[in-house]
Amino acid sequence: MAGGKGTRMRSALPKVLHPIWGRPLLGWVLAAVREAGADRIVVVVPPTEADAVAAVVGDAAIVVQPDQLGTGDAVRCAVPALEGFAGDVLIVSGDTPLLTAELLNDLLAAHVESGAAGTAATFRVAEPGGYGRVLRSDAGIRIVEAKDATAAELEVTEANAGLYVFDADALRLTLAGLTNDNAQGEYYLPDVVPAIAAAGLAVRAAEVTDASLLLGVNTRVELAEAAELLRTRIVEQHLLAGAGIVDPATTYIDATVTLAPDCVVHPFTILRGTTSLAAGAEAGPHSVLTDAVLDSGAQAGPFAHLRAGTHLHADARVGAFAETKNTTLGARSKIPHLSYVGDATVGEDSNIGAGNITANYDGTNKHQTTIGDRVRTGSDTVFVAPVELGDDAVTGAGSIITDDVPAGALGIARARQVIKEHYAKRKRDA
Ligand code: UD1
Ligand code: CA
Repeated sequence: MAGGKGTRMRSALPKVLHPIWGRPLLGWVLAAVREAGADRIVVVVPPTEADAVAAVVGDAAIVVQPDQLGTGDAVRCAVPALEGFAGDVLIVSGDTPLLTAELLNDLLAAHVESGAAGTAATFRVAEPGGYGRVLRSDAGIRIVEAKDATAAELEVTEANAGLYVFDADALRLTLAGLTNDNAQGEYYLPDVVPAIAAAGLAVRAAEVTDASLLLGVNTRVELAEAAELLRTRIVEQHLLAGAGIVDPATTYIDATVTLAPDCVVHPFTILRGTTSLAAGAEAGPHSVLTDAVLDSGAQAGPFAHLRAGTHLHADARVGAFAETKNTTLGARSKIPHLSYVGDATVGEDSNIGAGNITANYDGTNKHQTTIGDRVRTGSDTVFVAPVELGDDAVTGAGSIITDDVPAGALGIARARQVIKEHYAKRKRDA
């Protein structure tokens, strides 16, 4: 279910598209569902932004919910897409990004083992706030929404997780009878639970012990809570797989990043997108790497900003206050400090001096800078692209290089220094 408005986010962006570590909220849920082995996935999306939501669901089927009439209505909209399906239907909320495949499989196994026609996952929480309360009595199980609950019912600490397994036929049968006679005037999916019991079939509420897996995101406060839990989960997975992460508390890694065993991530470092670090590569401290590739022994940091398309070959290095973009740095080459290198190819064993800039943009187009092997560029060199420096080329400090520098040559482009003797004395005497 991803068809809700997400009003409580107070955002123009649909709730399920809010990103957490490089993935939309909904992407986290779908990743868990796929890993659990679901063979047919239907996603209910809102009519506005349907295309934007559809764009992140991969090969899952899309169903548009025309009006946001509640979670029961959302599932009702999905039923035609399940035509001919008999068996267990797992229903998950698109706003519960902490779900794991293990949890979903445990719930399915418990459902099958019990022989029930419906199983609702629940959890205990000291302050259940806006969650639906699970009311167990001799009459059976019922879920009351916080907005409909009496003061006594609000005291109940068993919360509805918004995660269910229903027998397809029992679901079709009971959805048809839902009413919207409640505080929000909505069709509530949880009302299916007592309806199944009323039809003479068994329903269960299965308590999940790790409540953190069921966190529902309704506000930006909960989004931040979910992000922190997922950040820790990602960091721990990398640590267990052998990556060196010096300070887990200040390391931010997107779900799509690849870390080889024995790479090192230093404190205050953000690794985004498809960034990958090979064994022995080091990132940080205080660095941001987006869609960057570091081969073995390559280093970025401290204070490095590697943007999309940066590839550091073995033992290459980008140092303090240097930014790179669409740039390949050959083996052992260095951009040690205070530089911007964009749309460039640098060969092997070259050194880019302090404060070098590729002037790659003429206001309309981006142009390429090509630098060979064993090149030494002087401090404060500006490369006015397109421009090419051959192997073993050298540039003088402070040069604005507008013409190609052939292999082995020195390119120097600056006004000669003028000396005015006795200048200070003449000024004084004037
Ligand atoms: C829901 C449950 C509540 C439970 C909580 C767990 C209902 C009525 N209440 O409340 O018992 O404790 O989840 O997190 O189900 N959605 C649609 N179409 C709609 C409305 C919602 O697709 O018309 C989707 C939303 O996008 C969301 C999910 O269903 O992914 C849950 O909706 P939300 O409004 O967040 O329900 P809660 O108030 O959190
Ligand atoms: Ca919710």
